[in-house]
Amino acid sequence: MLAYRIGYGEDAHRLEAGRDLWLGGLKIPGAPHGAVAHSDGDAVLHAVADALLSALALGDIGQYFPDTDPANAGMDSATILRRCLDLTRQRGYRPLNVALVVTLDRPKLGALRADIAASLARLLELDVAEVGVSFKTSEGLALSHVQVRVTTLMGRADV
Ligand code: C5P
Ligand code: MG
Repeated sequence: MLAYRIGYGEDAHRLEAGRDLWLGGLKIPGAPHGAVAHSDGDAVLHAVADALLSALALGDIGQYFPDTDPANAGMDSATILRRCLDLTRQRGYRPLNVALVVTLDRPKLGALRADIAASLARLLELDVAEVGVSFKTSEGLALSHVQVRVTTLMGRADV
């Protein structure tokens, strides 16, 4: 059993006016658009969940929560993340830290960095100092798009 394992996850969603924008378990106030998605479209939670699964070579969230299954419609992405965390725990690992980059042109998210980090830390049972949150614009190349990339280091749960 490896002492450490690296995970990587990504997610992207198209954005449309009149929808809520969820990122990291937070509803972003004043967002001009939100994700078009089968679930709540929280690209941060989806990418983090995929990063956890990838570290243990467990595939991706689409295998566990297919978007063709009506039972998953409107599912709270925090539930998806918790189930993925359980799957990694069952294999004897836990996340030690996560680092994520959100690429989004509007709205600016800098003022919410600490809130997003705290929300993720709570969901992952990590100290907030172990959750790195970065924001980038697409420089106008993807105005109606949110993209998230996440890495995580997993360690043995019993250490
Ligand atoms: O992408 P760019 O380098 O132009 O981003 C400049 C700054 O804007 C970064 O410091 C980033 O934290 C911030 N930003 C933000 N909210 C976004 C995108 C970028 O606060 N949605
Ligand atoms: Mg998604």
